[in-house]
Amino acid sequence: MARFRTLDDLDVKGRRVLLRADLNVPMREGRVTDTTRIDRSAPSIDELARKGARIVLMSHFGRPKGRRVPEMSLAPLAKPVAAALGGRRVVFAEDCIGPAALDVVRTLGDGEVALLENLRFHAGEEANDSAFAHELAELGDLYVNDAFSTAHRAHASVEALARLLPAAAGRLMQAELEHLAEALEAPTRPVVAVVGGAKVSTKLDLLGNLVERVDMLVIGGGMANTFLNALGVAIGRSICEHDMAETARRIIEQAKAAHCDIILPTDAQVAAALEPGAPNRTVSIKEVPAEEMVLDVGPASVAHVVRRLGECRTLVWNGPLGCFEVPPFDAATNAVAQAAAEQTRAGRLLSVAGGGDTVAALLHAGVAEDFSYVSTAGGAFLEWLEGKTLPGVAALEAAAD
Ligand code: 3PG
Ligand code: MG
Repeated sequence: MARFRTLDDLDVKGRRVLLRADLNVPMREGRVTDTTRIDRSAPSIDELARKGARIVLMSHFGRPKGRRVPEMSLAPLAKPVAAALGGRRVVFAEDCIGPAALDVVRTLGDGEVALLENLRFHAGEEANDSAFAHELAELGDLYVNDAFSTAHRAHASVEALARLLPAAAGRLMQAELEHLAEALEAPTRPVVAVVGGAKVSTKLDLLGNLVERVDMLVIGGGMANTFLNALGVAIGRSICEHDMAETARRIIEQAKAAHCDIILPTDAQVAAALEPGAPNRTVSIKEVPAEEMVLDVGPASVAHVVRRLGECRTLVWNGPLGCFEVPPFDAATNAVAQAAAEQTRAGRLLSVAGGGDTVAALLHAGVAEDFSYVSTAGGAFLEWLEGKTLPGVAALEAAAD
């Protein structure tokens, strides 16, 4: 279990707390389309405010690459952040360092909140530049990192800054780390991992790490085709990484040696086109027509996965099992997610999900609320599944030594 300080260890009354959040939320035409990350950042801000801290919120937004890109300003986030805080006032600072930031921070009273402009408008942020980190440090007496979803980036506000001020994890960071530890570091067995998504090539390290740690690995999505192809199964025009066949076979061997059961689809939902409601049918995986594509895992495979899930006590989920954005090819993802939710509700399963499309898939299945824990992280969740040390977490641990 990671060792780091939390909000319980800080005396914040009357002090300026530099709070690194991840407000990198999806936006369309200046409007936030999914407030999850804002909502999940609110409890730490609220707790600090109630304890009388002067909160200086920092975040990146998009990838402006060290330039001031107006469309990537954090200014439109002040309102939704204020709303998530029950209407508390949030003052925006036009820059994240220098006079513009200092002037705003100086005006803060106890329990008040400032939001700094996008950290990535300065190249020093991504460069983990020490001078830039020192400029940020001028704005605070204490540092709190609540951005687990950015913890895989060794950036100044995530890494260097943690070495300059007394540092602690915020409540969201704490919750992410505690739940992830529960799921993979010291889990109740058997443990099953469900991994989907398009490509094996982007998830090699993840699969390699998981087969060593879990008892069962369910593979779905496009990457299942790559495994099937590697085993000599003809998969028609389905997406498949033919050049990954050797790698897929190596992962299968590694799983055998580690006594991890790999579960691949035995039947599939196929169609000639990926279109909503496209004419489709169920075939055995050995009978995928040459001119058609596998777009979802078939019902017999789903039933098998659900049965095996019933044997398990812990589930880690990353990636959809089929093309869930295009019904009816969401059927397998929905069915397995709903089964996992049901077992979780019954207290028989600890279920943790995260990464990329996963949250969208669980929301689509209507069960995100029923999982034990759904991470706010994309890339950071994947790197954690790969067994990598996340720089932002390492910095908090070092700060606690
Ligand atoms: C994310 O959305 O995954 C995090 O906010 C990190 O953003 P990045 O991938 O641009 O570093
Ligand atoms: Mg990312």
